[in-house]
Amino acid sequence: MMQEPLLAVEGLRTHFSTEHGIVKAVDGVDFTIERGGILGMVGESGSGKSVTGLSILRLLESRNATIAGGRVLFDGEDLLTKSAKEMREIRGRRISMVFQNAMTALDPFFRVGDQLVELIRLHQRVDRRTARAKALEALELVRIPEPGRRLSSYPHQLSGGQRQRVIIALALACGPDLLIADEPTTALDATVQKQIIDLLLEVNRELGTAILMITHDFGVVAHTCRTVAVMYAGRIVEAGDVRRVLETPEHPYTLGLMRAVPRVKSGGRRRSDRLHQISGSPPVRMADAEGCAFAPRCPEAVQRCSTAEPPRIGFDAGHSVLCHQRLPITEAGRVSA
Ligand SMILES: Nc1ncnc2c1ncn2[C@@H]1O[C@H](COP(=O)(O)OP(=O)(O)O)[C@@H](O)[C@H]1O
Ligand SMILES: [Mg+2]
Repeated sequence: MMQEPLLAVEGLRTHFSTEHGIVKAVDGVDFTIERGGILGMVGESGSGKSVTGLSILRLLESRNATIAGGRVLFDGEDLLTKSAKEMREIRGRRISMVFQNAMTALDPFFRVGDQLVELIRLHQRVDRRTARAKALEALELVRIPEPGRRLSSYPHQLSGGQRQRVIIALALACGPDLLIADEPTTALDATVQKQIIDLLLEVNRELGTAILMITHDFGVVAHTCRTVAVMYAGRIVEAGDVRRVLETPEHPYTLGLMRAVPRVKSGGRRRSDRLHQISGSPPVRMADAEGCAFAPRCPEAVQRCSTAEPPRIGFDAGHSVLCHQRLPITEAGRVSA
């Protein structure tokens, strides 16, 4: 029996009005996350990953930002139809987000414990003592050494890695079903990055918290997710099983990104898996743009790529690409399901 997914994003569109016109930052995005699942979302800077995360939580609507279409079904209910009050109750309690550049999420003037207690009491009707016990549990959960002592620390007394753990503790303190982790390790050095990613995996395994893992690092995706969505200019241009996509990428953009990932030789040291900057214009999509957004940078582009919308081509096992230049293979080998 098919269980309803925890999150189903359908045709999401988020537009910014700028002095140059309408920017389609998210331009028809579809994906689902199962209960306890992890979806990796990768793409260069500016491809619309953060805007996707912020749109799910309705944190963008303002003078120049509009959710122009789609549905965000969380537990079967469309968040785009919720009132501001209802959204406040969902944020932090049922869906949390670790923001990109999260270091600013901690208030430098308040002790770690007080920040946790305040957040817990905002969402749960508990007395201070219970909230304090829950704050301690949250610090234990994120494996902060000497959690009891750390409750009375100020953020500046912690290392970068510990601060990120506190930020994750804040995100998890109310036991959300979904965590949106937006580049949760970028500001950290490599060893600490790995520890934080492993922590998120433990949380996923132990508490069943589903994760939308936003990253520009294919290494993180390979290590954490079963499913990946590759974003470009506000669209998911390729999606599927991580192993499949990493081993046999189909979209010319993903191919370009993969070529830039250094191979890990056996016994050799793993070097950085960061996405390399493919030459050409940044992936901004204006409202009057036609054809495939990647066409100007695509080594395989033909004429129709810059004039006609690319179709979504499905392969087997949920693997799909948005491209004019791919045909589903239905004979021997890969079979479309
Ligand atoms: N407040 C804003 N006003 C106008 N454009 C914006 C705003 N925020 C983001 N954008 C644009 O939306 C696009 C997607 O941004 P973002 O989601 O932050 O990318 P990513 O997280 O993948 O690096 C970019 O082209 C960016 O310039
Ligand atoms: Mg971002």
